[in-house]
Amino acid sequence: MKSLRTQALTLRDAGRIYFDHNATTPLAADLPQYIASILDNWGNPSSIHHGGRGPKTLLRDARQALATLVGCSSLEIVFTSGGAEANNLAIKGVFESFAKKWGADPVKWPRKRFLVSAVEHPSVTQTYKYLESKGAHVEKIPVSRGGEIDLEAFKKMLGEDVALVSVMFANNETGNIFPIKELTKLTRTVGALFHSDCVQALGKVEFNLRDLDVDYASFSSHKFYSLKGSGFLYVKKGAPVESLIHGGGQERHRRAGTENVLAIASLGFVARKHAVIVENFERTKQLRDCMEREVLERIDGVSVTGAEGPRLPTTSSFVIRNVDGESLLMNLDIEGVSVSTGAACSSGNPEPSPTLLAMGLTRFEAQASLRVSIGWSTTEEDVARFIVILEKVVGRLRSLRAEAFAEEARR
Ligand SMILES: Cc1ncc(COP(=O)(O)O)c(C=O)c1O
Repeated sequence: MKSLRTQALTLRDAGRIYFDHNATTPLAADLPQYIASILDNWGNPSSIHHGGRGPKTLLRDARQALATLVGCSSLEIVFTSGGAEANNLAIKGVFESFAKKWGADPVKWPRKRFLVSAVEHPSVTQTYKYLESKGAHVEKIPVSRGGEIDLEAFKKMLGEDVALVSVMFANNETGNIFPIKELTKLTRTVGALFHSDCVQALGKVEFNLRDLDVDYASFSSHKFYSLKGSGFLYVKKGAPVESLIHGGGQERHRRAGTENVLAIASLGFVARKHAVIVENFERTKQLRDCMEREVLERIDGVSVTGAEGPRLPTTSSFVIRNVDGESLLMNLDIEGVSVSTGAACSSGNPEPSPTLLAMGLTRFEAQASLRVSIGWSTTEEDVARFIVILEKVVGRLRSLRAEAFAEEARR
């Protein structure tokens, strides 16, 4: 248990500033003690003897807590290994169930078009790429530089031949929130299914699945102050789904494999923290707004991407001109600040973020982008220290760049 405890405390104890909550969140402060208290539930939840009862109860309680939090029935929750698997299950699940109904060649299906926003996470875009390799017809819904989905374009794209629409609730890089309720309403008029990746939304903003009227919604434990390795797909009652993993009757035959009991229980534990969740909606917004104001005031040549559209209260995507994002990230890291230049999953990849390019930023702007994402453990002091460090590092990198240009000119 000691190591879990240390892990939860390290980020703060080392005096570092962790501003990369969209990549992953630290564990909720009292989660390690809770996990310690349930460790003896090591039995298989599918066992019908005594050993199965404790783990089964943990799964049932977590399912109920999550259903209450997101506004659905516990029967509509399918536990997965995380957000990527939940996205795969929704998209491939629809494709496979249509293939069962209408045959292997999607061109012959009455519903053969798949519409997806241009700024989805790779676990959605790559899954659609896979479907394309199987003959599916996939079209991108454009998004503006301000972070708004092009509703007029979407309306024109809709038709009776659309199978599934995928638009995320909130973008992982810019924090932009899309009008899911409006989009599902439009989608219903042509009878297509709707999937929304809600991984970045859980615990950050108020939302209710019934109200949104989606058919599928994906969630991940490690973006929600819980242990890694779990997540879930909401599957609306009656919506088609085909298991991707075969060989077990778990999750009502929708996802085979023994459940990750501890990670799921940790999700349920955090889901019951209603007061903390709600308190942080406003608290993080105030901290984020203050941080943005100060950064824009103190450092010139800075803009916030997607600032015109509604956004998560925790995320800022800055373009800091005349600075290379990767160098900025590394220099901030040395100064004790953890941030990101794009989605964590694509870090180490020198290509500019496809999301920012799809929003209309130039390669140059995308490469000068910095994603700052705060969370429950962020304090006013963290924000104040971050601003000072950022100002110093940007100043240093810009003067190094100016010197390099001057040197180049002298040669
Ligand atoms: C919007 C979004 N969807 C899906 C995922 C994938 O979730 P997981 O890491 O749990 O597979 C992420 C992770 O970065 C994400 O930000």
